[in-house]
Amino acid sequence: MRAGFYQFAPALGEPEQNLKKITDALSGCEADLAVLPELALTGYVFNDRQEVLDLAETVPGKSAEKLAELAVKKKMTIVTGFAEKSGSAVYNSALLFTPEGQIRTYRKNHLFHEEKLFFTPGDLGFPVFNVKGVKIGLLVCFDHLFPEAARTLALQGAQVICHPSNLVLTGKAQVTTRSRSMENRIFWILANRFGTETNGDKSLTFSGCSQITDPDGRIMVQAGGFEEGFFAVDINPALADDKSVTPLCALFQDRRTDIYLL
Ligand code: ACM
Repeated sequence: MRAGFYQFAPALGEPEQNLKKITDALSGCEADLAVLPELALTGYVFNDRQEVLDLAETVPGKSAEKLAELAVKKKMTIVTGFAEKSGSAVYNSALLFTPEGQIRTYRKNHLFHEEKLFFTPGDLGFPVFNVKGVKIGLLVCFDHLFPEAARTLALQGAQVICHPSNLVLTGKAQVTTRSRSMENRIFWILANRFGTETNGDKSLTFSGCSQITDPDGRIMVQAGGFEEGFFAVDINPALADDKSVTPLCALFQDRRTDIYLL
């Protein structure tokens, strides 16, 4: 399958503009799977919870329906970060749109820094979605620093992890996600944003360098730190089913759950 990410700089508070940019970019690509950054429709630098509430949308809802239509039209699986309103809660979610028009949801479990003031922690665990025989797990940004998250997905059979991100700590996730790929023998699509976002006195710079890694932890493709574009490679998800490291060692069989503290 052809799998890729669209690295760009979403505009804060401009969901329609961001949706148009995403639609234009993906309309011109040939891929089976496309991953977008965290909170790709709303931007990230918020001053208070009300700002997030004003921009967040329900699922289904107007933007989710447009992305679902795009996925069907392009026969593509699309994963995006999304500010999801549900009752009085707002989740920092990743949505997966199948080529058949279904929508699947993951809600970020490890909220980063001030996200704790604006969002509700995830309550859906770590689901794995089977899309046309490919087992896909979703994580959002800071989740990468918790090896238990990727391991939980891999133990359920995830072959590809899609990882919408808004990384502010430069260089860390490019290392951890290589390791997570290697230690679980899975593919990993890290879709980060780039650019500086300012809201009043607050400003954050995001580090780009989105990448795809294979089950050996090799970088298959990586974007630059300030580069906008769609980057894709051919991957064979079935390679992730082979957990052997040597003829006598296999990653999951050799785990010593009898002595671990977790
Ligand atoms: C992050 O979790 N957005 C750093």
